[in-house]
Amino acid sequence: MLRTGLGLCLALGLAWCCAAGFDEKDKKDPVRNPLARNPAAIEAGGELFRARCSFCHGLDGKGGGRGPNLTSGEWGKDSDIFSAIRKGVPGTQMPPNDLPDAETWQLVAFIRSLGGAGDQPPVAGDPKRGEEIFFGKARCASCHMIRGRGSPFGPELSNVGAARSAAKIRQSILEPSAEILSDWAGARVELRSGEKFDGVIRNEDNFSVQLVDRQGRFRLLDKRKIARLTRLEKESLMPGDIAGTLSPDELQDLLAFLDRQRSSEANAGNEYSRP
Ligand code: HEC
Ligand code: HEC
Repeated sequence: MLRTGLGLCLALGLAWCCAAGFDEKDKKDPVRNPLARNPAAIEAGGELFRARCSFCHGLDGKGGGRGPNLTSGEWGKDSDIFSAIRKGVPGTQMPPNDLPDAETWQLVAFIRSLGGAGDQPPVAGDPKRGEEIFFGKARCASCHMIRGRGSPFGPELSNVGAARSAAKIRQSILEPSAEILSDWAGARVELRSGEKFDGVIRNEDNFSVQLVDRQGRFRLLDKRKIARLTRLEKESLMPGDIAGTLSPDELQDLLAFLDRQRSSEANAGNEYSRP
């Protein structure tokens, strides 16, 4: 009798514990969109968007007079998009909304479908061979880091598969200068000492510039020592001819590998670790 009672208590206690733990986590961190990739939700979200949001963000989400382009795919967690829609962005024209959760998630699903990642099937190709190409003959790792391997010169790509659509990644490789990430604009520097080098500007104030050079070194430069600094606004520091050195199959394998780069934080929270 006592044993059954104890057993029951334990079982109930455990069940309570688990349920409480689960609930707690869910409430605190509702990072995943329960309607992600759901075609009906994307369609419903599109309708809501055209009715309520297109006035500022444009009918296709590419931006209008008053709101920014939402198709760049540079999103963090689903819950961040959710809370931007619900709470608005204080101090800007982005208003808060009183839409119910389900409709807010429909909007999140729609926004994700606009060119961000997460809505496409896995890219075809052999990711294992793609990895060899990335760290080997294509020399991508001489400028990019994936899970601690490679160089910090360019953006880290550990989560690029979750943060960018396959089409966007392909474009980044085939035409790097088509769209340059704003945090990674390059510069060509000539010092008074005669030394010349290219780098990515990471920070700048009136007196100094901080760059990462091609060797991946951080360099803090006193502006008085700089003879000339040319900003490369239309030209990416990523060479545009890499794809030409790869066969179509190799390019496909490389794309398959990049598509699989969804770091564990990404799996938990779909977070893009921006540099
Ligand atoms: C009155 C104009 C206006 C309306 C209406 C509007 N937005 Fe915005 N939205 C903005 C502006 C301005 C920003 C940029 C805020 C900033 O500077 O961060 C923005 C930003 C955003 C962002 C990005 C937030 C971030 O974290 O960068 C999302 C997502 C967004 N809007 C979604 C929506 C959705 C969905 C709707 C409709 C329910 C909507 N917006 C309606 C003006 C608007
Ligand atoms: C000489 C350095 C260099 C090499 C080599 C290089 N990249 Fe890049 N890459 C960059 C820089 C700098 C940027 C950021 C500027 C820009 O957006 O063009 C970038 C941007 C990217 C992006 C966009 C990242 C994002 O978050 O949208 C992708 C994807 C990418 N590179 C993939 C590759 C792949 C794959 C290779 C090998 C085939 C490669 N890169 C080789 C320097 C390089």
